Amino acid sequence: MLKVNGWSSRWASLLLLCLAVCSLITPAVTVKHENFKTCDQSGFCKRNRAYADTALATSNWASPYSLDAASVKFEKGILTGIVSKKIATTGETVRLPLTVAFYESGTARVTIDEERRQKGDIELRHGSKAKKQRYNEAEKWAVVGGTSVSTGAAASKDAEAGTTKIVYGPASIFEAVIRHAPFGVDFKRDGETQIKFNDQGMLNMEHWRPKVDKPVAEKKEGEEDVAAEADAEDEGTWWDESFGGNTDSKPRGPEAVAMDITFPGYQHVYGVAEHAGPLSLKESRGGDGKYSEPYRLYNSDVFEYEMDSPMTLYGAIPFMQAQKKDSTVGVFWLNAAETWIDVTKSTTAANPLSFGIGSSVTTQTHWISETGLLDVFVFLGPKPQDVIGAYSELTGYTQLPQQFAIAYHQCRWNYVTDDDVKDVDRKFDRYNIPYDVIWLDIEYTEGKKYFTWDPMTFPDPLGMNKQLDEHERKLVAIIDPHIKNEANYPIVEELKSKDLAVHNKDDNIYEGWCWPGSSYWIDCFSPKGREWWKGLFRYDKFKGTAKNVFIWNDMNEPSVFNGPETTMPKDNLHHGHWEHRDLHNINGMTLVNATYEALLARDKSEDKHHVRPFVLTRSFYSGSQRLGAMWTGDNQAAWPHLEASIPMVLSMGVSGFPFAGADVGGFFGNPSKELLTRWYQAGAFYPFFRGHAHIDTRRREPYLAGEPYTQIITQALRLRYSLLPAWYTAFHEASVSGAPIVRPNYYVHPGDEKGFDIDDQLYLGSYGLLAKPVTKEGQEGQDIYLADKEKYFDYFDFWTYEGPGTVTVAAPLETIPLLMQGGHIFPRRDRPRRSSGLMRYDPFTLVVVLGHSGDAEGTLYLDDGESFDFEAGASIHRRFSFVGATSTLMSEDLAAAAAAAPSKKAKDYLKLMEKVRVEKIIIVNAPAAWKGKEEVEISEGLDGESAAARKVTLDWHPKEAGKAAWAVVRDPGVRIGGGWKIGFA
Ligand code: NOJ
Repeated sequence: MLKVNGWSSRWASLLLLCLAVCSLITPAVTVKHENFKTCDQSGFCKRNRAYADTALATSNWASPYSLDAASVKFEKGILTGIVSKKIATTGETVRLPLTVAFYESGTARVTIDEERRQKGDIELRHGSKAKKQRYNEAEKWAVVGGTSVSTGAAASKDAEAGTTKIVYGPASIFEAVIRHAPFGVDFKRDGETQIKFNDQGMLNMEHWRPKVDKPVAEKKEGEEDVAAEADAEDEGTWWDESFGGNTDSKPRGPEAVAMDITFPGYQHVYGVAEHAGPLSLKESRGGDGKYSEPYRLYNSDVFEYEMDSPMTLYGAIPFMQAQKKDSTVGVFWLNAAETWIDVTKSTTAANPLSFGIGSSVTTQTHWISETGLLDVFVFLGPKPQDVIGAYSELTGYTQLPQQFAIAYHQCRWNYVTDDDVKDVDRKFDRYNIPYDVIWLDIEYTEGKKYFTWDPMTFPDPLGMNKQLDEHERKLVAIIDPHIKNEANYPIVEELKSKDLAVHNKDDNIYEGWCWPGSSYWIDCFSPKGREWWKGLFRYDKFKGTAKNVFIWNDMNEPSVFNGPETTMPKDNLHHGHWEHRDLHNINGMTLVNATYEALLARDKSEDKHHVRPFVLTRSFYSGSQRLGAMWTGDNQAAWPHLEASIPMVLSMGVSGFPFAGADVGGFFGNPSKELLTRWYQAGAFYPFFRGHAHIDTRRREPYLAGEPYTQIITQALRLRYSLLPAWYTAFHEASVSGAPIVRPNYYVHPGDEKGFDIDDQLYLGSYGLLAKPVTKEGQEGQDIYLADKEKYFDYFDFWTYEGPGTVTVAAPLETIPLLMQGGHIFPRRDRPRRSSGLMRYDPFTLVVVLGHSGDAEGTLYLDDGESFDFEAGASIHRRFSFVGATSTLMSEDLAAAAAAAPSKKAKDYLKLMEKVRVEKIIIVNAPAAWKGKEEVEISEGLDGESAAARKVTLDWHPKEAGKAAWAVVRDPGVRIGGGWKIGFA
């Protein structure tokens, strides 16, 4: 009982307050495991894991798959043949057509289908139909290029008996050795095996079979038929399967595809996003510190997801890379159904007396999908970028976003009125905090009806947009795929009357629950559905939107509150009569695809200046990178979530979808001020940088944090804004090569084995900018791993470090541990502005960081940051290089070819940018020989235009204890888009 006097009552109320507040600060929430299947609860996963166990436990296990040698043909870069599966129990043989394609890019692709024994659809129940065919349309959504067939691939005469050998790839250094019986493929580079298919004999294509109602055999008490039981397959989940009160009917019966893929000599595998765990994937078959569940890919709304887990999350990218010293290879398992991946490692000693020296680790993986084709692409590297580049060529490069999209986004669930939005906008200005985009979550709608505004709270959306536009700011509004089932809502009426929604297993419209209550789901697999969706975003349809309004697609896994595993039943039917199970993981991408097209179309329809769409998605698949950004969903305002965000974002980068970020501040719960501040410092290094918070949290706009936090957060935001030219260049690089925007150690230093599992620090683009945000409470120093023998300098005070090894950087709250690696030049724009749009004509600063060699280089890509004019060459692309031997800094045109015959748009853009200059050049670790030098000589006009040489002042600053000497050229006046040379000697 509380005593109502003096201290005791005060302490009691403090205690109560703390109980309330502290529980909000560190939310004690955990994922509801019971809502999601384990492998054991997923029939096909369980069967295939059991199959793998049998293969491993059986000495002389012989995989029952063989390639019929007589069927093999190799023509114009494509090998075809028939793989036969022998069924031991019946003696029957199943014919599985095999295709191995060799592409010009050096990528190989192995596809196995099942011969159709019956044409057309099959009758399901009540007259509805489902395709009697393995799903073969994943390619249609995911693959956009890189499939021109190799003219150089050739069958080799020196294949060993029982194999077919194809030599392919650049300079013919790749080989695919196709083993006939048992069937398998070894992929080699320079004669050394890099990847093996079916080496462990786990290939398993569950073939179609008629449903036979077996009589339950009568067994007398005490009688056991051990042999028959061991032989029998586990049929319990072949024709239906129950979980969490829902029964999934399976009219086609068992249809899983599975195979082992071995990476001999490779210690690390990465990728298969999205999971909340370390970048280097863990073993998944139990044991100390290992997972006991496979990595799962089944796009789901995993509420309050847990850290360090192979559980599925919102998106799926079935692309994996393997890494060993100086070699990277990879595979892309093109399958849109629920997929599980087991990872195990084994060590082989070079010889028993070598005491571990020369031993090597091999990583084995086992891929299991519920339905569809076996369709695997193989990338043989040898560099990380070769693998990511080839994967990106296939699935598409990252969209080059508008510049605002890579600046800071301010979101919460919800800004409650249009006045509220305007007020937040004004407060950012009052506190001099830059931001580009404010977001509206679901509450802006009238009763969760998308494409409407709540007339009470958002009476004047156009007025709101206009105010934002005054400082070139944007609005992003949420539009989800569930459409409220309510009378007098024209959108739902059209959806129903045009029959554009997903169907249930009985082929009637599927109804489920989401934010609005009873809802239907747009089927974006349907061309008509997409066409209709496209029309909904026209300015005259979605009234209240303007050119500065963009879109957020959430809940697109799809999330269905009353559905199995919070998603749609697998036996639902989509356009073309495919079952939802076949294409589940692609579902989210189809919505974003339709929204992207809609944003393109709305400008066309108004004949407006065409700008690049911006769409944020929660659910994704291989290829989503072409359409916008992703974020890691509903994290928590807790330190482990901040920590986990770095490997998650890095993993997205090496999975070909680098435009990624996590909710800054944490979605659920209230962050302490320290956590919020540290999160902004980390967020400044996410490619997608957005603060977001749950509806039950307290307001936390940066200006509310109070001092010193608001100032420190503002500094983090300013750092992001000043480095926007570097970020934009990194995005451009991603958009043409697939390179990650923030990069893990292994990607930058593929020869440095010690750094292969480092995932808490990141490099920004190709600039040698190495950040390691603080992710632990109360931490004031940060250990940073330096992989190479190079000088690194503190970004802020030029304190000098030297690799290789680990160095400790002071990291009080106001500091972001950020180093500059010697040998690079990076661009900045240092004038503080309210939004990135207002920086369009600002001058540049170039930072030249000299390391051991004394040379440095870097690039800058620039365009109008909003339109498609860059496709007509309206851009500036420069290479800056500093040559130590001659002490000269040069700017050269990287778009020289385009510049030779410039388009009108290209000329207009250069004209527009003519006055934009370099206002400062900073040389870090400036040579001591410059001491006493007062001037540098500038010659302009290297791109052909005329200009006289001139001199400007150089300020040289000597070394201070521990810090590098530096020099600055103030106002060199050279054009950012022009060719020039500066002599320092
Ligand atoms: C779930 C999303 O993950 C979250 O970011 C959003 O605020 C809510 N849906 C409400 O729309």
